[in-house]
Amino acid sequence: MKRILVLSIVASLWACLEDKNIEIVPQGNKVDTVLTVIPSTNSICDTVSISFDKSVWSIMNKQCVSCHNASNPSAGVDLSSYDKIQTYVKNGKLYGSLTHAVGYKPMPSATLKLNNCDITMIRKWIRGSSPAGAILVDINPTNPINPVVDVPVIKPPIAVNCSPDTVYFKQKILPLIVSNCAMSGCHDAISKQDGVILTDYTNIMREVKISNPAGSDLYKSLIETREDRMPPAGPLSTENINNVLTWIKQGAKNNGCDASATNCITSNVSFKTVIQPILATN
Ligand code: HEC
Repeated sequence: MKRILVLSIVASLWACLEDKNIEIVPQGNKVDTVLTVIPSTNSICDTVSISFDKSVWSIMNKQCVSCHNASNPSAGVDLSSYDKIQTYVKNGKLYGSLTHAVGYKPMPSATLKLNNCDITMIRKWIRGSSPAGAILVDINPTNPINPVVDVPVIKPPIAVNCSPDTVYFKQKILPLIVSNCAMSGCHDAISKQDGVILTDYTNIMREVKISNPAGSDLYKSLIETREDRMPPAGPLSTENINNVLTWIKQGAKNNGCDASATNCITSNVSFKTVIQPILATN
């Protein structure tokens, strides 16, 4: 009776421990391949006391090094020592491949996968900063390492629709000033007449007081009636002068907008009418 009791306590404890390790692993979108799970590499599934030597190396050595060895590594991936393995821990490929995550090469193969216990040990080892040798990993690390390294996604700049009420620096002010003031002999970086450079936002802002046109030399020089009016060759159009005025009043921001966003049609996209012109222009 006593023995049965002890056994059942051990069994339920075990079930508890196991439960915690059950996880849903992202699968690649394989539809018709049959997946075979490789049985546990180590005789005991110990996901609490984990070290590289005891837990991780035995798995890697048995399941991976036959192909990923030092002399003739498959795909140039050498997993034959702690140091070599670290490269693939850091770039996320080790865990990505083991879990058959989308975007990684499924390992050991598309139809073969490690069992949950082996994967759990490796995951906990990575989360606990993947220590070398016999050092036991901290299984509740304060700063866990994410074993899945996200593939960096370069986000396109957020397109701001052009508002008819806003004067944008990039669309209106910069082209206006560069073409009328920053030419050679005037306010380019080399000639810098009167020490004034008007080639870019930072330099232009030296002549601007935010929201204060009357205090901005840039604006004052445009409406000057005497000989120091700018440009010397002749005044800007009233529309252009007003644009500068409005831009300064609106806070003289280094802003821009996406003119194409307003008339951007995303339905009925065809290669010929939409994609090809984009490729040809850019
Ligand atoms: C039967 C040989 C074989 C075994 C066993 C094997 N691999 Fe591979 N591995 C390959 C081949 C071949 C590639 C290249 C696959 C490709 O490019 O499609 C590869 C690629 C990889 C990559 C690179 C993935 C990438 O996205 O660049 C990693 C990481 C990797 N394997 C890890 C492992 C791990 C970990 C194991 C053990 C669990 C393992 N492999 C077992 C043959 C093997």
